[in-house]
Amino acid sequence: MLITCDAGIQIRRNECSLRQSKRPRKMRNLKAELGPVPKSQQEVSARQMTQEISVSHEQQAFLKKIELVPTRREPVEPETLQTILLPDESDISGGRRAENPHKRSYDDSTEDDQNPKKAAKARSSEYIQFRGYLLRQLNNALPAQEARLPGFIGDASKEVERILKQSVIQKESHSAIIVGPRSHYKTAIIDHHLTLLCRDFEKQFVIVKLNGYIHSEQAAINSIAFQLEAQLQSLHGNAASNFEISSGSLTEVFEKILRLIDTTTVQNKTTASSRAEKVSVIFIFDEIDTFAGPVRQTLLYNLFDMVEHARVPVCIIGCTTKMNVVEHLEKRVKSRFSQRIVYVPTINTLETFKTAIYEQLYVPKVHYCAKKWNECIQKELRGDKSELNRIIKNNFETFRSTAHLMNSLRVLIQKENSIEGLLNGIQSCRWIHSYNENQLDSSLSAKVKSLSDLELALLIAAGRVSLKTEDNVNFNLAYAEYSNMVKDTNKRMPIIPQASGTSLMLESALRVWSKLDVKNVWENLIDLDFLTEKGSIGLRVSAQAAFQASNYHTTGTIIPFDLRIYQMQITLQELRRTVSRSSMYYSWTQL
Ligand SMILES: Nc1ncnc2c1ncn2[C@@H]1O[C@H](COP(=O)(O)OP(=O)(O)OP(=O)(O)O)[C@@H](O)[C@H]1O
Ligand SMILES: [Mg+2]
Repeated sequence: MLITCDAGIQIRRNECSLRQSKRPRKMRNLKAELGPVPKSQQEVSARQMTQEISVSHEQQAFLKKIELVPTRREPVEPETLQTILLPDESDISGGRRAENPHKRSYDDSTEDDQNPKKAAKARSSEYIQFRGYLLRQLNNALPAQEARLPGFIGDASKEVERILKQSVIQKESHSAIIVGPRSHYKTAIIDHHLTLLCRDFEKQFVIVKLNGYIHSEQAAINSIAFQLEAQLQSLHGNAASNFEISSGSLTEVFEKILRLIDTTTVQNKTTASSRAEKVSVIFIFDEIDTFAGPVRQTLLYNLFDMVEHARVPVCIIGCTTKMNVVEHLEKRVKSRFSQRIVYVPTINTLETFKTAIYEQLYVPKVHYCAKKWNECIQKELRGDKSELNRIIKNNFETFRSTAHLMNSLRVLIQKENSIEGLLNGIQSCRWIHSYNENQLDSSLSAKVKSLSDLELALLIAAGRVSLKTEDNVNFNLAYAEYSNMVKDTNKRMPIIPQASGTSLMLESALRVWSKLDVKNVWENLIDLDFLTEKGSIGLRVSAQAAFQASNYHTTGTIIPFDLRIYQMQITLQELRRTVSRSSMYYSWTQL
């Protein structure tokens, strides 16, 4: 071989010299220098030569001495799920062991017998990958391309997609309100389509997100300014000075926002490709009904006005659970709103409910675990006597909440370490039952049982006040009720005469604790969620209700602690059923 190498070098030299043959004098000099060049008998390519040079023959001879033992190759690549949940249908159709003879022909039972540990390890790592994917699917954490929305909201989803595309691609202004019950994918639909649009039209729009539960009107205006400032800065590089709009008073800020949006358009219109350079502004309002109160709807008015008059495409999408939100809009706001309302349908039949659950649990991958899992879920959903079916029916008749069921399944999926265990768990539903029992433990009635005597007394007093005052409870009223009740009870208590000749006093009467001591107990009840503040949440039907809703601040003054109004989360009737009959306070649970 070494000789061949030398010959190769020789040949190169030969080629070299041939190329130079055009210059006869030089050639002659060369011949004189090297002598006659031997001609090669073999035809040799440059690639073959480099290959041969790169082989270390000593190493090869050594490697040949090593005896090769057949081993099972790890089927799992750790990096991505896509590589594990094989995309090629033909690989999988036969189940866990792929039918493809070239890929896994070595993987038979004798192999598993030889390397049982390795096989088990491979199987468990396959399962862990599958489990990770399933959990991400349940947590809505898959990338937008892979995420699927449930079928029953298909029409609403298409409508939202159309509105968003018209705003981003065709640069039109739109406004719409999405109405639907809680956890019915309102936010999920919007987020899904925005993420997909973001991929293709990244710098064509900015998104401003607001939530009525977080932002008051003033906070919303500040937040709009802040979000616009940040996003426009990142769009236009770091020309910070142009976009400082979040400073100054609120009216100034809003004026600046409007001016900024308008001027951006003017600048763009002067350029030749104005259409492509316009930046759409998309406002997403969660709980938009909170901005539709009876006092002022300045924010909505200004924003809807912007949809009509701004020179930049503006799209406003609101989400709410209130069906009659439009009725509460002021005339001037209503006339500017496009009246486009997208209703997210609710689940009405058991079949739709089951389909929605199947869609959430179905893993769209061709893979051993996924196949087994999909089959099992399908079977359990179809089987009339299956435990899962029973739980689903129960859920449908009570909460009708897929989120509740998914939460209980999460425990099972997280706990089990093998696909067999998971399938058994689905069949027996043991984890789902224990999850549901745990949920009961944190319910309000369970909390009532854990209360101390004084806490229970005050809670019942608050319950009584709530019935008398149409659910407007404050600390003063509850305390007055509590002390009256204690005094009433004390009156009815038999008086135990003091034993003669001793200084021992038997305290038979109930003690009326001072207001200051009870204040602490009141705070505990609030912490335990028995009482919730009447905050500025939700629609207010009258100005009076709106006034009451501002629990801390009226114009200029701060409402003191004992006058703040709360709403009871448990009624007196419920308390009557929860408090045990042997309790001293049982008689109080009736007006
Ligand atoms: N981070 C998350 N992890 C797990 N599940 C989630 C998560 N976010 C949302 N979901 C589920 O996705 C579904 C849709 O939720 P989404 O927030 O879109 O509902 P929504 O209609 O906007 O509710 P709301 O009226 O409360 O705003 C629900 O079933 C919810 O349980
Ligand atoms: Mg939402």
